[in-house]
Amino acid sequence: MKSLFSFLFSATLSLAVFGQTKMSITSGSSAPVISRHIYGHFSEHLGRCIYDGFWVADSMNVPKKDRIRLDIVEALKKIKVPNLRWPGGCFADEYHWRDGIGSRKERPKMVNTNWGGVSEDNSFGTHEFLELCGLLKCEPYIAGNVGSGTVEEMAKWVEYLNSDAQSTMTDLRKQNGQNEPWRVKFWGVGNESWGCGGNMTVDYYVNEYKRYATYARNYNNAPLYRIASGANVADYNWTDVLMKNAANRMWGLTLHHYTLPTGNWRKKGSATNFAEKEYISTMKNCLYMDELVTRHSTIMDKYDPEKKVALVVDEWGIWTDVEPGTNPGFLYQQNSLRDALVAGVTLNIFNNHAERVRMANLAQTINVLQALILTQGNQILLTPTYHVFDLYKVHQDAKLLSVNFTSPDYSVEDVKIPAISVSASQDSTGAVHISLVNMDANKNITIRTSLYDISWKTADGQIITADKFNDINTFEKPGLIRPVMFKGAKKEGNDLVVTLPKLSVIVLELKP
Ligand code: AHR
Repeated sequence: MKSLFSFLFSATLSLAVFGQTKMSITSGSSAPVISRHIYGHFSEHLGRCIYDGFWVADSMNVPKKDRIRLDIVEALKKIKVPNLRWPGGCFADEYHWRDGIGSRKERPKMVNTNWGGVSEDNSFGTHEFLELCGLLKCEPYIAGNVGSGTVEEMAKWVEYLNSDAQSTMTDLRKQNGQNEPWRVKFWGVGNESWGCGGNMTVDYYVNEYKRYATYARNYNNAPLYRIASGANVADYNWTDVLMKNAANRMWGLTLHHYTLPTGNWRKKGSATNFAEKEYISTMKNCLYMDELVTRHSTIMDKYDPEKKVALVVDEWGIWTDVEPGTNPGFLYQQNSLRDALVAGVTLNIFNNHAERVRMANLAQTINVLQALILTQGNQILLTPTYHVFDLYKVHQDAKLLSVNFTSPDYSVEDVKIPAISVSASQDSTGAVHISLVNMDANKNITIRTSLYDISWKTADGQIITADKFNDINTFEKPGLIRPVMFKGAKKEGNDLVVTLPKLSVIVLELKP
């Protein structure tokens, strides 16, 4: 009887060990730092991102500085937004910066032809944007107009922003209330120049890039980080031509990739009403970012083996059908647990490519696409995506650690993906942070991790999860999905053993 019991016991034990996924984490001396700018955001003059988002009516009864909502500012400061991209997007190539300075009453109105055909009153312009960045304590990232602007217009904008010498432009800036130059660093030379930014061929754009980039000057103590408009998803030729002809004239080259649930631009899929097959397709389309980054980086390596040029993924995120009954040109969508998983997986991909990906911008901060915050009158709602950025902020400017493992699969019918996504880093205090996503909709997964050259004593964690992949936060129930303490990590010898609940994002902190 006793031997049968011990047989059963050891069989159960070995099955448990057998059922664990093995992982190892190593600290290498030449590991890259994860730039905090990977955690950047994007705010376009689109729908209710700027107007009725960041920038509200004087009469609205919320805390404000000028017309900037301070409840939004406080929420974004908490997640340490490192940079904010503005004014577009497609809007950038129709934006004329001089319309957005000086007395607000006299600013001309324009039609926002890209986004809903609404009237744009230009009340939010250069000074207002830089005031917002000042409040957020983040770096501004401005996209200049190549599509419908001129070289002179862009050159003068940079002079207005960054020069400390006396000139008509700098006098105008002072007259408008700003004595000191802002010294804006990140500068986009056009946006999607292959599409809404002018429908150019790459051979045409590369010459335009060089012309615009030449006259967008560096001023005293204000070197400009010029960023070229890069490829649409898998257009590898675009990257090749830009790198071959202009790599020495740019700080960064962009890449845009959106995760469409169905993969179909005409019928992208609902933000909240979807079944498991569409859920797994979404995650597969999101994981495609890894292949894109790898292949674009390989091309960049050919011309820039020292990796001086950054790959800047300045538009990413999930893009669904708009919420029923909302303006189709406003791109307002809800944000579910699936969005949190998309954010966690994509940020892990960027972290793991930190050597080349040194900046990224989720589209878009407020009320548009994969938003961090939704607003309704004077209420704000933090989305599941917001909470992922909150947990992942520990990776900003930390040293990337190398992770080795083979993920178990998760499949639905003919679609198969790895169930687990992970990245890890070590900060300046020696604390190790591991971010893990379990995409499997049905199974908890146990992982045993051996940590090499890393000594640690305690493991604490936070988890974001819910019962269903399409669970959401609402204005009525704002806290359904939010980080809570995670107690499922154990130390066994120097190994870390953790069981990841299905559909979860977890960030663990291991302290020496
Ligand atoms: O983020 C919405 C739009 O998507 C941007 O304006 C454009 O650059 C992209 O096509």
